[in-house]
Amino acid sequence: MTRGSIFKLLAYAVVAGAVTTAVAVLIPWLPTAATRQADRMWFSIWFAEIIAIVVFAVVAAVLVYCVVEFRAKPGDLSDGPPTHGHTMLEIIWTAIPTVLVVAITIVAAIVIHDNGKAGANPLVVKVITQQFTYQFEYPNGKTYDILRLPKDRNVKLDLSSKDVIHSFWVPAFGEKSDAVPGISTSIVITPTRTGYYPVICTQLCGLGHALMRSEAIVLEQAAFDTWYTSADAAPAPAAGGDDGKTIYTTAGCGACHTFTAAGSAGKIGPSLDNLSSAAAKAGQSLDDFISSSITDPDSSLAAGYAKGVMPSTYKTSISGTQLDSLVKYLAENTK
Ligand code: CUA
Repeated sequence: MTRGSIFKLLAYAVVAGAVTTAVAVLIPWLPTAATRQADRMWFSIWFAEIIAIVVFAVVAAVLVYCVVEFRAKPGDLSDGPPTHGHTMLEIIWTAIPTVLVVAITIVAAIVIHDNGKAGANPLVVKVITQQFTYQFEYPNGKTYDILRLPKDRNVKLDLSSKDVIHSFWVPAFGEKSDAVPGISTSIVITPTRTGYYPVICTQLCGLGHALMRSEAIVLEQAAFDTWYTSADAAPAPAAGGDDGKTIYTTAGCGACHTFTAAGSAGKIGPSLDNLSSAAAKAGQSLDDFISSSITDPDSSLAAGYAKGVMPSTYKTSISGTQLDSLVKYLAENTK
């Protein structure tokens, strides 16, 4: 190779590397990391990214160089010279990628290992998912529909699902996991920045999937303690919440239904503000209509609403007593 062709190859590599680096750096692909786990995750992403940029620059340079230098001259219909490969070249282009992939694997394995460590005394919050809502249950037995977390403390989120497969994802937290019925999964996070972060379900879980959102709020430890000791919340259903309004909230009804008395404005299912006329249309008493619509949602569908959207799990997920008080609460507060 002449000095001129080496210079050309280098020039192509620099241009390709510069363009790719600009695309990688100038576009904010990743949210600002808000946990220690996200810091490590972003490190592993950038580690692989830099390697990818260098490899791309080299491959693009060789490709462009060959296309430009070895193209057929006009009118040249002859075959190219016969070649028989190049053993040393093949060893090099096998060995280098092997080393790089092993390096990426090692970095990723260390990050996954470190990110899984909850430490001695994590705050354990149960994340209970169901179509189409999140409930967050704290060690004091209270549940909330917004996740509040203290800064700089290890938090273990234990994920479960009452119906189908959902997921728990906060982009800025860098960790994500499915919530699968019948098995328990968990993730560990250590928030490092106060603020508000969206919680997003990323498993297609039904018609309301796109609306299955919540919010995570990271507070300073002192502010978290104040909230934790004074906040009013619904006790977890398991702890015996039998009051109708509490069940309405903890069973997630408001995520899909509008019901003025409970202050919910869900739009996936029909409004619950005018149940009397719906019961009359179905030829049932108000109580029977409400009860059967909860335990057997497809038994009498409101016009314009499809079968199979409302979970049919309520007949087992809430107790008979809870069903009775939920029916009573709805009947007393609807028109
Ligand atoms: Cu829950 Cu998608």
